[in-house]
Parts: sequence; C-alpha cells; structure tokens
Amino acid sequence: MDKTAGSIIQTARLILDPLREEDTATVFVYRSDPAVSQYQGWKPANEAEVDRFIADQRARAFGTPDSWCQLAIRDRETGRLLGDFGIHFPPSLDDPIEFGLSLQPDAQGNGFAREAMEAAIDLAFGPWGYRRLVASVDPRNSASVALCRAVGMRQEGHHVESYLFRGEWVDDVVFALLAREWRK
Ligand SMILES: CC(C)(COP(=O)(O)OP(=O)(O)OC[C@H]1O[C@@H](n2cnc3c(N)ncnc32)[C@H](O)[C@@H]1OP(=O)(O)O)[C@@H](O)C(=O)NCCC(=O)NCCS
Repeated sequence: MDKTAGSIIQTARLILDPLREEDTATVFVYRSDPAVSQYQGWKPANEAEVDRFIADQRARAFGTPDSWCQLAIRDRETGRLLGDFGIHFPPSLDDPIEFGLSLQPDAQGNGFAREAMEAAIDLAFGPWGYRRLVASVDPRNSASVALCRAVGMRQEGHHVESYLFRGEWVDDVVFALLAREWRK
C-alpha cells in the first residue's frame, strides 16, 4: 500500500502536511496550553522536546506500520498552523487505525476538526484499505466526544477508572466506525 500521497491531505479550508522545524514555537505554545493538554498524554516541557518530536517525525516515513505519524493542520489560504493530526498506523490492515487531533484554542469550534477527520477517514477506508477506526476518549473531554459522534462513530464501551493518568484513575470511552458504515 502506498501512503506517500496521504502525507499531504487537502480539504476545502485545510492542508495537512508534515510538521516543519519552524513550527516548533507554535506547537510548544498550544501543546503546553492546559486547555489543549488537559486530556492528552503528551504535554511538552520545553521547545527542545518539540524540536526532537518534529525531527523524529520527519525521520519516519508516513504510514510506517505500528507508529504514530503527526501531520500539521494548516489554514489552506494563509498557511497558518492551526494544530496537529496524529494517525496511528497499526501493524496490519486487519487492526484498527486511530486518530488524535489537537487544535489551537482560537481555531476550535470552526468545524476544522470535523473537516480534517472526514478527509482522513475517506483515505483510511479508501486507498489505505483499513476496515476499522477506533478512538479512546476521556468522557470529560466533551469536545472530543462530540467530534467522534459528529463523524458518525459509535460508542462501544465505557471503561470505568481504567487507566492511571497523571496520578488519577480515569474512565475511557471507546468509539469505533467500520468501513462499511462510512458514508452510508
Ligand atoms: C477535540 C478538538 C480537536 C475538537 O475540535 P473542534 O474545533 O471543537 O471541532 P469542530 O469544530 O470540528 O466540531 C466537531 C463537532 O463537535 C461539536 N463540538 C465541539 N466542541 C464541543 C463541545 N465543547 N461541546 C459539545 N459539542 C462540541 C461541534 O458542534 C461539531 O459538531 P457538528 O459538526 O455536529 O456541529 C478540540 O476541542 C481540541 O483540540 N481539544 C484539545 C485537544 C484534545 O483534547 N484532543 C482530543 C484528544 S485526541
């Protein structure tokens, strides 16, 4: 499967492409903002950590099995970095693919996340050939829960106090979507 073309995804208002060195300062500011990092595993401590993250991403081929690939989400007209879009490519096409989105606070609430997600689902269930998309979300993350529902993901489970997150046992809600359910 050739996913190279997928490293650049275009929608009506957005372009998703590889993160660049010059994105470091912006990524650090929004990724370390509590409004963005509250429910996220990764909260960079400094710009050097973001630098290493971007260098690591650039060294890895997009679509490498069993790895997270993080694309920039940019305004298609202005090129402004709005956030990032993580895609976990599983070990095989039989395993579920997973997405994770983060938008700068002032870019949220404009339908950008939904727009990016729908384009990525088209690719995942189309040319990339996956059959199942999953998301594990903290139920208190209402924007993330709403996004999963907005793209038609089905809630499959609610695990109570299922993982230890920053010293606290928290719940996770599992959402899923099958290729045969998409764009029905
Ligand atoms: C999760 C996140 C990417 C969603 O971005 P967004 O800009 O709110 O998403 P959109 O504007 O595309 O909205 C998607 C849907 O969710 C709804 N929604 C968004 N925020 C909501 C909220 N707080 N409460 C209820 N519904 C909400 C929208 O109305 C929309 O539904 P619709 O298309 O049926 O009208 C964004 O909130 C974010 O970056 N959060 C911080 C990082 C994070 O926690 N990421 C999730 C972990 S993977």
